[in-house]
Amino acid sequence: MIFESHAHYDDKAFDEDRDELLPKLGEKGIGTVINVSSDLPSVRRTLDLAEKYPFIYAAVGIHPSDTGELDEEKFIWLKEQCSGEKVLAVGEIGLDYYWDNVERDVQKKWFARQLALADEVKLPVIIHSRDAAKDTLDIMRGERAVERRGVIHCFSYTKESAREFLDMGYLIGVGGVVTFQNAKKLRECVEYLPMDAILLETDCPYLAPVPYRGKRNCSLYLPFVAEEIARIKGISVEDVEEITERNAKRLFRRREGRG
Ligand code: NI
Repeated sequence: MIFESHAHYDDKAFDEDRDELLPKLGEKGIGTVINVSSDLPSVRRTLDLAEKYPFIYAAVGIHPSDTGELDEEKFIWLKEQCSGEKVLAVGEIGLDYYWDNVERDVQKKWFARQLALADEVKLPVIIHSRDAAKDTLDIMRGERAVERRGVIHCFSYTKESAREFLDMGYLIGVGGVVTFQNAKKLRECVEYLPMDAILLETDCPYLAPVPYRGKRNCSLYLPFVAEEIARIKGISVEDVEEITERNAKRLFRRREGRG
């Protein structure tokens, strides 16, 4: 079964047909979905979805572009949400210097705080990092944790950067972009990465793979991503689906001794 490691089914793009679409995923080979929150209201919506659908799990965290809304009181609320039964990760958290719509110092502060939070609640992290490879690595190194691991989602850096994240024990999320004609750098990364370092993800509703590029994305299109990875690696699509599912289950398994 396919493990979808990064979806936003709480997004308004799914308001029209969410309850028709989601039950179909299981029939089409999607075994598990992690719905990833991005701002405070989406944390609530993500937890609701996880409660409603057995195969949907939650990641709780604030996206760098939404960190402007955080304060100490809201951060305490965020931490409380992490104790939810179906919460498997803290995310998505990180740095985004492409949109740059929150001051970089504010992004950095809340990235570091949410990394520390993940250590406290003993959960892995889902990291969003765009045009900010060096600062991302610096903060991850500064917030050293013995056990914390995670995934760099929608990876957009070079294979040399991939090596640095790998050496820290992190996995790399690969989605629809790998099928884009202009995605040479990502295909090189995939070629370079060991299969046990790759997770499948959509980031839906965004980044639909070819032949649906530009349309609303959903987990049903993950086979196109798996196909491209299989082609690059010279293995079967079934192997890609099976290995990436195993990788995800290893990363997101419930930590023992969680409070
Ligand atoms: Ni996302």
